[in-house]
Amino acid sequence: MTDRPTPDAANSMWGGRFAAGPDAIMEAINASIGFDRRLAAQDIRGSRAHAAMLAAQGIITPSDAAAIEEGLLTVLSEIEGGGFQFRTDLEDIHMNVEARLKALIGDPAGRLHTARSRNDQVATDFRLWVRDQCDAAIAGLEALIRAALTQAEAGADWVMPGFTHLQTAQPVTWGHHMMAHVEMWGRDLGRFRDARARMNESPLGAAALAGTGFPIDREATAKALGFDRPMANSLDAVSDRDFALEFLGAASICAMHLSRLAEEMVIWSSAQFRFVAMSDRWSTGSSIMPQKRNPDAAELIRAKIGRILGATVALFTIMKGLPLAYSKDMQEDKEQVFDAADSLMLALAAMEGMLRDLTVNREAMERAAASGFSTATDLADWLVREAGLPFREAHHVTGSLVAKAEAREVDLPDLSLGEMQAVNPAITAAVFDVLGVQNSVASRTSYGGTAPVRVREQIARWKERLG
Ligand code: ARG
Repeated sequence: MTDRPTPDAANSMWGGRFAAGPDAIMEAINASIGFDRRLAAQDIRGSRAHAAMLAAQGIITPSDAAAIEEGLLTVLSEIEGGGFQFRTDLEDIHMNVEARLKALIGDPAGRLHTARSRNDQVATDFRLWVRDQCDAAIAGLEALIRAALTQAEAGADWVMPGFTHLQTAQPVTWGHHMMAHVEMWGRDLGRFRDARARMNESPLGAAALAGTGFPIDREATAKALGFDRPMANSLDAVSDRDFALEFLGAASICAMHLSRLAEEMVIWSSAQFRFVAMSDRWSTGSSIMPQKRNPDAAELIRAKIGRILGATVALFTIMKGLPLAYSKDMQEDKEQVFDAADSLMLALAAMEGMLRDLTVNREAMERAAASGFSTATDLADWLVREAGLPFREAHHVTGSLVAKAEAREVDLPDLSLGEMQAVNPAITAAVFDVLGVQNSVASRTSYGGTAPVRVREQIARWKERLG
């Protein structure tokens, strides 16, 4: 029990059997208006479709439906104009809108909730909202891909070191590297499109959980709201949050992808690498170290996966073990998804901007590509091709040559022919052709390989795909 003053007025929406209002703390834990006001436009859209259907089915009169329609549009413009008074005692967006409608149009407002419950109402609103976010993610990804394509086209034959274990592995091209990220984002696009298609069914008309005895037309409301069809089972319709989880799953993978490129940007923009330089618009300075140009945007993009994955884990945990159908636990779904969606859209936009403004230091990349024995595999392959050695033996011979170069603190092309022949007499001067990084990348013409000719094909395919 608490000694806090208890409001004596019971809730006007559901207070018929209540003598007293809620404790102040009960009101605080129960209310969602602080965040679900973001569903206002979707809520009003759903209510308009519902009211029109009720009238078409003869469940409410055309004049009541007209009053409701006009009133809802007024409420919407009040909310959009910022003049709307949201009330915590009215708990959520649904009851805030309905209470204002009642104040505006009187009795007909009370008929809007016929054959509907807040359970199917919130499921509908939230689905519409998440569907919009899928569209926003798709648009954001497409813009990002276009920015990467511009980079890839410019640098289809710019040589850089390719890494495994962040150790120099083999030379690749800047375009090839950019296109690797494009492939990841392409799968992200697919995930958001798939999720969108699967979520595009209407829960409206499931009512509290069991459907309704009123002769409603669920097909009509589904169509009015742009859904493909009504959900088939009313219990599932009000209890399902898969659509939110799928969105979060796709968002998590996408944020993980962004985080990997962000990390590369952080490394590449360092004084030790200098492969890229972020523009002033995408860097920050230090208040104490005047020389600093910090890649803050990249670092924040790198971090966003933490929040987004956190939201995903939170919602899975909230949903786990909930018996059918609706439980109030599910009110906790929204803040997670709102925050994850905001974070993702910001990260996508920031990455796009950063990529568009990025200056690439071609010379530094090529220099780095030529060091670290990056063409050792080309040398081994040459020994197989031209000297007929089995690959294992060629690998061994090359290893000895690398050790020799390392001892002299030079790179492979700096060894003399004599030094090479001392290791294996079958080596001829022609070997020097494959030790250059340009030749190395040009030779990797297998499908999906780093040869500029293959990279340009990848770019062309993507351009066609985006239209
Ligand atoms: N604010 C609630 C939510 O977000 C709306 C549904 C309330 N339904 C109920 N039976 N209390 O989930």
